[in-house]
Amino acid sequence: MTNAPKEKEITAKKQPAFQAPKGMRDILPSEAAYWERARETASDIAEAYGFGYVETPVLENTDLFSRGVGGGTDIVEKEMFSLKTKGGDSLSLRPEMTAPVMRSFIENGMSRLPQPVKLWYYGPQFRHENPQSGRFRQFYQTGFEIIGGEQDPVYDAQVIVAAVRFLESMKIKNPIIQINSIGCRSCRTIYRKKLLDFYRKELAAGSKKKGKAICKDCERRMDTNVLRLLDCKEEGCEEIKNRAPSILDSLDSPCRAHFKGVLEFLDEIGLPYSLNPYLVRGLDYYNRTVFEFFTEEENIALGGGGRYDYLADLIGGRPTPAVGVAMGIDRIIGILKSADIVFEPRRKEKIFVVHVGEVAKKKVFALIEELHKANIRVTEALGKDSLQSQMKAADKEGSPIALILGQKEVYEDAAIVRDMKTGAQETVPLNKIVEEIKKRLKS
Ligand code: HAM
Repeated sequence: MTNAPKEKEITAKKQPAFQAPKGMRDILPSEAAYWERARETASDIAEAYGFGYVETPVLENTDLFSRGVGGGTDIVEKEMFSLKTKGGDSLSLRPEMTAPVMRSFIENGMSRLPQPVKLWYYGPQFRHENPQSGRFRQFYQTGFEIIGGEQDPVYDAQVIVAAVRFLESMKIKNPIIQINSIGCRSCRTIYRKKLLDFYRKELAAGSKKKGKAICKDCERRMDTNVLRLLDCKEEGCEEIKNRAPSILDSLDSPCRAHFKGVLEFLDEIGLPYSLNPYLVRGLDYYNRTVFEFFTEEENIALGGGGRYDYLADLIGGRPTPAVGVAMGIDRIIGILKSADIVFEPRRKEKIFVVHVGEVAKKKVFALIEELHKANIRVTEALGKDSLQSQMKAADKEGSPIALILGQKEVYEDAAIVRDMKTGAQETVPLNKIVEEIKKRLKS
């Protein structure tokens, strides 16, 4: 009897013993240019609009999110990756960054800085969602938050503009802004009652006709979170929602004036937007302005945000006005890839160092370190020994200059400097090489 595998077993692709956890993935060098561009773009926009970088831990106290984002929200109720530490603390992987950034603002006494404080961030977030197109369990956000100072509509407009500039710089064409105001607590108390009355009447009429009914989630929302009825994407629920009273009719005059102010700033720079009175967002800390970004082709939000004047108070700080936005990097990159939009890596030119023979390889190894110390970017193919394949690699890399060391050069303590465009070569003593390369790179 033989133990040889059957043909089927040989051809079947063997699953590796370990795979990335569900809804999480690796970012490989082949797509690194997209990710690098996203981070660099966010950093450029932040600099242009005066935001300082903040980085918070990936783990936070679970209570920060239950109090900040809201215990009744999907994010906190169903989607957090939570753990107990050996010391008994309950921590969660951050599902979003606004509550952690506000925690950091309070903890680090940022209210003593000139107000408002503008902060930006970039990093992974974690939500235990059902993975599907554009929805991951680990995904990246970049965000811009303006905390403190006045409750001025100009700041709402500024975070919206920063987000649009980010999308445009990421080659997302004609981003669509959907915007709404959900008022303050007192506007919402009035609106909640109106909405509940409307749904009760609809359901009563529906049960008479044995027709209209809402989904199980919406039945629950009628008791727990009435505004989220407007978020439902189920067909039957949407049909009812589209006839529901508009929250804009329940705004008191300060909230109405604030919203008008935001829209006037956007009008001033000719930024088009679309009013969506049913936009309520999935996090509890919002008040007044809320918004989301879409493209014409995709019905999936590329970013979202709003004003959150109550958050500081909810997590134990002094009441502090704030407004911000977060952009979903995975979704933006997904759109670029499916539209075949490529970003060339913003490559800085690298010198290619070539060796011929074992002794030269050692010299080259040391020379690379010398070049690095002089801040000259270098690349090599130390694993390849043939001159031809190293020169091919230098060509592929697009290096402007190759430095070649063979036995003769080692003996003379020199290197051949080859201009890769013209093919012109010159032998230069090694103690003059840094100077020579810098001169050539400048010109
Ligand atoms: P959010 O709407 O939950 O808001 O998330 C912002 C963006 O993150 C979404 O528009 C989407 O592009 C992306 N995103 C969310 N969940 C996923 C997922 N599972 N997979 C891929 N991408 C996803 C917030 O997080 C708020 N903290 C935004 C904010 C900042 N509000 C005020 N300041």
